This record gives sequence, structure tokens and C-alpha cells, in this order.
Amino acid sequence: MKYCIGIDIGTSGTKTVLFDSLGNAVCSQSAEYPLSQPKNGWAEQDPVDWKNAVLETLTAVVKNSGIAAEDIVGIGLSGQMHGLVMLDEDGNVLRPSIIWCDQRTGAECEDIERLVGRERLIEITANPALTGFTASKIMWVKKHEPEIFAKCAHILLPKDYIRYILCGVFATEVSDAAGMQLLDVPNRDWSDEVLEKLGIDRKLLGKVYESPDITGYLTEEIAGLTGLTAAVPVVGGAGDNAAAAVGTGVVKDGAAFTTIGTSGVVFLHTDKPVIDPKGRIHTFCCAVPGCWHVMGVTQAAGLSLRWTRDTFCETEIALAKEQNCDPYEVMTALADKSPIGANRLLFLPYLMGERTPHLDPDCRGVFFGLSAMHTKGDIIRAVMEGVSYSLCDCLSVFRELNMEVNTMAVCGGGARSAFWRKMLADLYARPVCRTQNTEGAALGAAILAMVGAGLYSSVPEACEKIIHIADETAPEIENTDTYAPYYSLYKQMYAPLKTAYKELSKIQ
Ligand code: XUL
Repeated sequence: MKYCIGIDIGTSGTKTVLFDSLGNAVCSQSAEYPLSQPKNGWAEQDPVDWKNAVLETLTAVVKNSGIAAEDIVGIGLSGQMHGLVMLDEDGNVLRPSIIWCDQRTGAECEDIERLVGRERLIEITANPALTGFTASKIMWVKKHEPEIFAKCAHILLPKDYIRYILCGVFATEVSDAAGMQLLDVPNRDWSDEVLEKLGIDRKLLGKVYESPDITGYLTEEIAGLTGLTAAVPVVGGAGDNAAAAVGTGVVKDGAAFTTIGTSGVVFLHTDKPVIDPKGRIHTFCCAVPGCWHVMGVTQAAGLSLRWTRDTFCETEIALAKEQNCDPYEVMTALADKSPIGANRLLFLPYLMGERTPHLDPDCRGVFFGLSAMHTKGDIIRAVMEGVSYSLCDCLSVFRELNMEVNTMAVCGGGARSAFWRKMLADLYARPVCRTQNTEGAALGAAILAMVGAGLYSSVPEACEKIIHIADETAPEIENTDTYAPYYSLYKQMYAPLKTAYKELSKIQ
């Protein structure tokens, strides 16, 4: 039997999993790291924390699995998208990474649309300028930290920085590169036109591969450190969402999934690059060579629940410790006691601004309808419902663009909760299914490595053999009807607050 490793460099931590060639997880290790928010709306992480987490988990997985190094034949990388890593010419990190949920670059997005032209930008990069994407972060450093920009010799995405650490090469792949806003998304290569108009030298960027292509081999030093052999190839891999698509078998037209991680994403595979003229959903290359996907993003999905846990749920955390379970289980049990609509309490989950459908870096979270009768259970339920309404907003854009959704898988930490899966099924008014292996992005990255290592001939073929449906949660249509007036009110609430959000963001 041969084995491959998937490494997912997420926002809350890194997960490294060794899989056999049938996709069974043999050994898994995670390591967490902090997120720093130096200002309201800013979000940074230290790439060195990612590097340490990867080396620690990779070494542990190889050692603990007991698998012979020669049988580990490939590594795939997956990671949080859009984060900006800048290195000097000796490969040293120049500043903390400005990550995907950072919202500081509103002015730079205006600059980008002025320099390239909004329509031309959408034509080439398939998306309007967004604060979440890498190009505006590069422009921010160029404007506010020119001395750092002057020293910058390499611009990488989070997982591609790890590739550099593992193999010593500067490379990326289409699914993650598409989220930089420098890629010609229909043609799957850097856009010289965009680069020239933004004043970014192509030499700063890595070589672009398709996701299953081999991009390099482990260096002798890393092989020695981790117990692997230097002959292990590292394939392109994919941005975490494109990797999760592979890991849930979403590799055909009409197949979709929802993930609730730190962010929430509703993702739909498509054989053609379909573009939302209003830019509310993103169009990116996907990990299946020659295909694309559209996806809507809820900036703070799991992040909203984590914030609720860390801010209000000390008692539940302590209780969970006593009961040896996850604090989210205790919290969800409380939420389950609250009825649909959380006793008329609504939550707008815009803790980190919002992408789909508002594209507004300045909006922020709201509890609406708070009453002295509300319990902690109501608050937790309202948070979970608010995140789910935001995911419904993503799905409704697909409907508006007449993009058909045939199947809906669910994955990510949030999908572990039967309560949340039911909420999604009821709100989407369609069944949602889980796959047997729930490793999502790490499995997707490992499958890409299996294809790169020649264990399978294509990504769809590998998924066909490896991914199996475990269970399906059916909707109850009476519940869909009970949710309807709350969701309708939720949808009305952003517009009247828009100006107030702007004013709030300007208060010094
Ligand atoms: C996608 C996005 C997030 C990150 C989170 O556009 O920004 O889903 O990839 O890891």
C-alpha cells in the first residue's frame, strides 16, 4: 500500500494527515497558532508560526504512523487563501502576513479598479477588486510600507510559503493564485496586463501549476528533519476551499458543498468560468485541471461561534472540561433548547466585514431584538442562525445566476454538529450530505498528491474511488416555513445600516 500526506494550513491551526491510497486516515496531528488583530478590521498571522506547526505535525505524523518512509509517495498542500507573505532575497519573512479576513484595503481596491478599469479587471481576474484578495494587500504595503516593498523579492500565499520551506521552490497553483487578483482566471496564468498596471513585477511571483502537478521535492534538510525521503514530491495542492471540494468529491458540474470553518463558503463546481456581474460571489480556477468554481463567502462563520464561546461561555468551557467533551457540544445543547428564530433574536455575522452578498469591509456584527428574557441558548442559536442565513445568501446568488445545484455536501468544523446540519438542510430546503471521510481540505490535498504521484489518473477518477456518502440530513419543510419570516427580516437589515456602518468606521 502507498500513502500520501495532506497538510492544511488553516486560520486557527494546521492539520496534517497521512492517508492510505484509498483515502483512509492513518494518522493525524494538529497544531494551533494565534491570530493577531492589531486594529479593528485588521488580521495578521506570523508565517513562522505556520512553518513551525507544519514541521511539528509532519514530523509527528511520520513518526507516529509507523509507515515506512519509502511508502509515503506524495505531499499535497492546502491552505487559507489570499494571505500575503513577503520574503526578502534570502527567503526571510519581511512582515506578518496580512490574511484573508483583513479589511484594511478599501482605498487600495478603489486604486486597483481605477488603474485597471473595473470591467477589464472583472474580465481578466473574474472578480471585482476585493479587500480580502492579495492584490489590494500588496498595494497597501507598497503605499504604507515602501521600505518593506523595496526589500520584497518574493510574494507567496500561505501554503506556497510552506512549499518554499519544504522544497526550496517558489511556486503556486491555479486555484489559490486565482484569489490573488493577479491571475488571468479564464486562461489560468498571471496577467501581464494587470501586473503592469499595478506596478507588480512578475518576477516576484511563483511559477503557476495545475493542482495535481508536481512542483518540487522535499529538500535533504527537511527530509532528514521529518523522517521522510528527499524523493517525496510535493504537488501544487489547492486553496482550502478548492481542496475541500476534492475532499468531498465536488468535482462535477452541479456538485456543491458548504463548509463552516473560520469562514463559511458555499462552493459550486462548474465546467465554464461563470461570472456574477455584481461580483457578489467569486469565480476561481478549481483543482480539477481545466475547470472552475464559483463560491460565496461568509467572512465570520465558525469565527462568530468561536467569538461567542470565548466571550460569553466560560461556564460551558468549564463544564465541557469536566465532561471531557467539546465546549461547542455544551453550547449547541443550549441552543437546541431555543426555538427557531431564537425567541425573536437575530444576529448579523459581520464581525469581520462581509463578502457575499454585500462586499462591505466596514459592516460589523449586530444582535437585533435583544430582550431581557433572552437566555444564553437564544444568543448561541441566534449566532448559528445568523451564519446560516448568510450562507443562504450565498446559495441564492447561484439561483439568481441560474446555476443549478444538484447535490450539497457539508464539511468543516461546523458540519460536525448534527444541529447545524439540520439548520442548513431546513434553511436550504434541500438535503445536505456528509462524506465518510470528513477530513475535507487535508484529504483533498492528499488526493491531489495521489494523482501527482501516479496512483490515480485524474482527480475525478480518484474521487470516484475514494469519496463515499456517509449520511444525509433531510429538510423538514415546516421548519423552512418557520424560518422564512426571520430570514426575510435578516435580508432587510443590512441596507438601512449601511451608512451608519460607514460612519462608525470613520470614528477615530
Ligand atoms: C476564501 C477565503 C476563506 C479562506 C479561509 O475566499 O477567504 O475561505 O480561504 O481559510
